[in-house]
Amino acid sequence: MCGIVGYIGKRNSLPIIMEGLKRMEYRGYDSAGVSIINEKNELISIKKAGKVSCLESELDIDVFNGNIGIGHTRWATHGVPNDTNAHPHFDMEENILIVHNGIIENYKLIKNRLLEEKYKFKTDTDTEILANLINYHYKNTNDFETSVRLALLEVEGTYGIACLCSKEPDKIVVARKGSPLMLGIGNQEMIVASDAAAIINHTKNVIYLEDGEMATLEKGSFHLKTVEDQDIFRDYQVLDFLLDEIEKGGYEHFMLKEICEQPDTIQNTFRGRINFDTGVAKLGGLQSVEEKLYNAKRIIITACGTAWHAALVGEYMIEHYCRIPVEVEYASEFRYRRPILNSDDVVLLISQSGETADTLAALKEARKFGATTIGVVNVIGSTIAREVDAGTYIHAGPEIGVASTKAFTSQVMSLALITLMIANEKKTETPETLIKLANELKHIPEKIAHMVSLKDEYKKVAMKFKDAKNFLYLGRGFNFPVALEGALKLKEISYIHAEGYPAAEMKHGPIALIDENMPVVFIAPQDKAYDKIISNIEEVRARKGVIIAIASEGDENITSYADHILRVPKTLALFAPIINIIPLQFLSYYIAAARGCNVDQPRNLAKSVTVE
Ligand code: F6R
Repeated sequence: MCGIVGYIGKRNSLPIIMEGLKRMEYRGYDSAGVSIINEKNELISIKKAGKVSCLESELDIDVFNGNIGIGHTRWATHGVPNDTNAHPHFDMEENILIVHNGIIENYKLIKNRLLEEKYKFKTDTDTEILANLINYHYKNTNDFETSVRLALLEVEGTYGIACLCSKEPDKIVVARKGSPLMLGIGNQEMIVASDAAAIINHTKNVIYLEDGEMATLEKGSFHLKTVEDQDIFRDYQVLDFLLDEIEKGGYEHFMLKEICEQPDTIQNTFRGRINFDTGVAKLGGLQSVEEKLYNAKRIIITACGTAWHAALVGEYMIEHYCRIPVEVEYASEFRYRRPILNSDDVVLLISQSGETADTLAALKEARKFGATTIGVVNVIGSTIAREVDAGTYIHAGPEIGVASTKAFTSQVMSLALITLMIANEKKTETPETLIKLANELKHIPEKIAHMVSLKDEYKKVAMKFKDAKNFLYLGRGFNFPVALEGALKLKEISYIHAEGYPAAEMKHGPIALIDENMPVVFIAPQDKAYDKIISNIEEVRARKGVIIAIASEGDENITSYADHILRVPKTLALFAPIINIIPLQFLSYYIAAARGCNVDQPRNLAKSVTVE
């Protein structure tokens, strides 16, 4: 997804901007650009389709020399990804330069108005309209900040922007609405970015802009106000993660690093939140909404993608252990389908990034009806985290690989903690059961660590399927969402078509696809559904399908059914999705890596989908 970085200070801005752009590459993008104000106060700009390295190879560092600049990575929304549509964008007279994340929804209306005023446009982007609208207001006000402000008052949609003006070459004006932006406060210098990864190497002191706010940055100072022209005074926050945490740490890909990190990340999710002697879980962030949660007539969980799969696990957990009806909604559907919501409903919003546009819109929808909103979010200080009534952070640390892995297991663990919390309060489970569950929970990190140590075994199986064209993933009960997530992981990073299904549903359609070329992954641990799953395996074997079984350690019976076995430790149903997804993450990773795919930045995908 698009990324913004800008620098103003005493240093040469180019290396700082280029480093920032590279640090944001993980978000996914299709073109990049940079603009600098040089010593003659001229705006110089370059932009290229493709990777930041393409841009870098064309840059003349002697020309791009100045203390003020902005840069951008673009993920196309309006206009194809090419050099012209890449950011930054000039106004018609080339006095204003702008980088923009988000979508200007009324851009056509504004464009028509500007066309009547004889404005000319070179690109297909909504952003160029905004640059010209700022130019339009500058003609009347002769003041850069005011022109940006007046332009933004006319704009409908979302934006995170950073702008330069050749007539006021000592400042950067920035603003946000619905697209994250933060200011890094350094020593006599400021960095603006849409992602902390672009700032953290230079300063840990940041101010998050809120929706409808803007700032004018000058060397060593800044002025914060609302787009409505109200001054704002806000202290900075200190970022609490290290750059090291964002880097690969010796692994070939971020995704592999993040899969292998899960013994630690899962521990971080439950650390200090459960009493192992009593089985009672406590999530500090939910204190203010506990009563609402315990008395909810209905819980709605909404999310997108992998987080939606975690939501589905949450439904199985909460209904099973807490006996509260749960509905799971794709955030993108929820926001548009006139949902029935009441003020005694609780809406859980799950999001790794905390910035997903559809999930954010679902949150706004839920608030409109007076429902209590609870976030289950990874990125601290993100928009969803700030806008919910209450929430819990999953504490998985920065997730850089576009395919979500450690966030999924931590989302599921957070939902398990919420389940234990409700089950204790509502007494839907006995204290003995809660203690048993808590005791198992304690061992989950070591069980994941054990699976990490088996990764070469998983890799051997993966290598046999690197040329497969299709995959089917089947599971029952708590493992049905795991089948969906396993299939999503494979297709998004290896580009092999894969589908997840409830195992028994196979007979109602997908069975027609089975032949000797169809690998079928069965999630078949020794649990309540084991015998049923074995019957489903037999159905596939009878049609010559190739069986890959996720099977419990010690299960010898499975060897007579499966062609390939990925072993997992035994666990209780509540934690089965956390355990059983691990070999599937490895399977998709090794298959994609063997196919030479760009594992961390799969084509067409963005880490954080901040447009609908
Ligand atoms: C898949 C993946 C996506 C995200 C989805 C929601 O591996 O990462 O499906 O899960 O875009 O993102 P968040 O959780 O940031 O709201």
